[in-house]
Amino acid sequence: MTEYDKSAQDRVLIFDTTLRDGEQSPGATMSLSEKIEIALLLDEMGVDIIEAGFPIASEGDFHAVSEIAKLVKTAAVCGLSRSSNADIDRAAAALKDAVNPRIHTFIATSPVHMQYKLQMSPEEVIEAVQSSVTRARSHTDNVQWSAEDATRTEPDFLCRAVETAIKAGARTINIPDTVGYTAPGESAKIISMLKERVPGIDEVVISTHCHNDLGMAVANAIAAVEAGARQVECTINGLGERAGNAALEEVVMAMRVRNDILPYRTGIDTTRIIQASRLVSTATGFPVQFNKAVVGKNAFAHEAGIHQDGMLKNAGTYEIMRPEDIGLVETSLVMGKHSGRAALRAKLSDLGYELGDNALKAVFVKFKELADRKKEIYDDDLIALMSDNATNAAHDHLQVKSLRVVCGTDGPQSAELVLTIDGSDHNTTATGDGPVDATFNAVKALVPHSARLQLYQVQAVTEGTDAQATVSVRMEEGGKLVTGQSSDTDTVVASAKAYVNALNKLMVRREKTAPEALAH
Ligand code: KIV
Ligand code: ZN
Repeated sequence: MTEYDKSAQDRVLIFDTTLRDGEQSPGATMSLSEKIEIALLLDEMGVDIIEAGFPIASEGDFHAVSEIAKLVKTAAVCGLSRSSNADIDRAAAALKDAVNPRIHTFIATSPVHMQYKLQMSPEEVIEAVQSSVTRARSHTDNVQWSAEDATRTEPDFLCRAVETAIKAGARTINIPDTVGYTAPGESAKIISMLKERVPGIDEVVISTHCHNDLGMAVANAIAAVEAGARQVECTINGLGERAGNAALEEVVMAMRVRNDILPYRTGIDTTRIIQASRLVSTATGFPVQFNKAVVGKNAFAHEAGIHQDGMLKNAGTYEIMRPEDIGLVETSLVMGKHSGRAALRAKLSDLGYELGDNALKAVFVKFKELADRKKEIYDDDLIALMSDNATNAAHDHLQVKSLRVVCGTDGPQSAELVLTIDGSDHNTTATGDGPVDATFNAVKALVPHSARLQLYQVQAVTEGTDAQATVSVRMEEGGKLVTGQSSDTDTVVASAKAYVNALNKLMVRREKTAPEALAH
């Protein structure tokens, strides 16, 4: 079955680009195993098309797209390409084992992009549209074409380019608001215009791809759907270039909660939303903003007395959707030192984490270590444990084996560190301006590098002096950003692990080269 069988008038296809546009978010590098885990969850939760990467961008991207193509059973798997034959052929090669491969080829159509970025005339761009779609169609029937910066494109030229793509065989036409510039009324108008003016438009699926620079991505996507778009491109947690993309969870829940005025259906099992949100946050090291719509920690919290009173009388007073609709389940199971593996599995499942036996075994060890140090284990502690990239990545090049610091009023503070580097232990002692500085100096002595520390952030997971601290570390090397994260009841240990986690990601990132604006 292809997504074209899902052709009922009210059916909106969900195209998830967390692994491609989302990963282009500065600092959001994901490992291969993280990408595979996310892709499999997206498939299970009913995403129609998974954009798995940009195969020509790097060996790593190519490999990720090919592995995901082999493993995904139901969704179409998509690879991005510019308009050159080399890009398109590379995407096709990466997708060769997919049950339903889709090639997504794009070129910019706005005057500013054509003149300055591509340095091509409009005629040359039209030729590239024709030749790129034709080339992609030589590999698969399932071809998507995008007019990059469509919302700043001359209407007549946009119609001409779309018509060219349709004639060359594109089956999905994507209209991106690349720079997050449009507003809902205009977003709808562009889709209506294409529907009125472009021959053959009714034979293809119109898609919308909105960036969030002015905070209107979801509103613009929904407006496009109201005007006739039937594919929404979006990402989990709204991840993406700059201010991000339309958030999948917001688009899907808006259509579900306001189905009275937005009478559209998606194939998404909304009870998997919280699991997907946490998985993506863990993989990227990007925390979800507390007041983020649908998936933020405060999205279902009611603090004002008047709200609590209303909630107690009837949840409908202040709640427009139920926590369980997105997979949040409240339980009374209190976890602690004596809790067993079955209780941990049940609790994690309530929190949206379904673990196999091996993964559970590893998490159980960490849980016991934490329970030895902390009397009560709250839900947030378990979420922090599950989100601890450093703890989860047993296969990483670098791992913190042990750390001892000397700190206090009389300096210098020092750190004695043992790091496991590719399986063998290395140790050193370093001093610094405080225990964290000393620890980072010790890491740097064992793993010399020129990356610059851009952000060091500590956040308490729960209340109390025995609370875990979640530490985020962002580093920059040659214009590339990575974010490492770790949690521990010892803030300095969490700092060391977060720093090492960022370095591990940097190693993955090094091979990824940003493709330049290429036209043909
Ligand atoms: O924002 C954009 O224009 C894109 C295209 C490649 C679809 O991400
Ligand atoms: Zn984009």
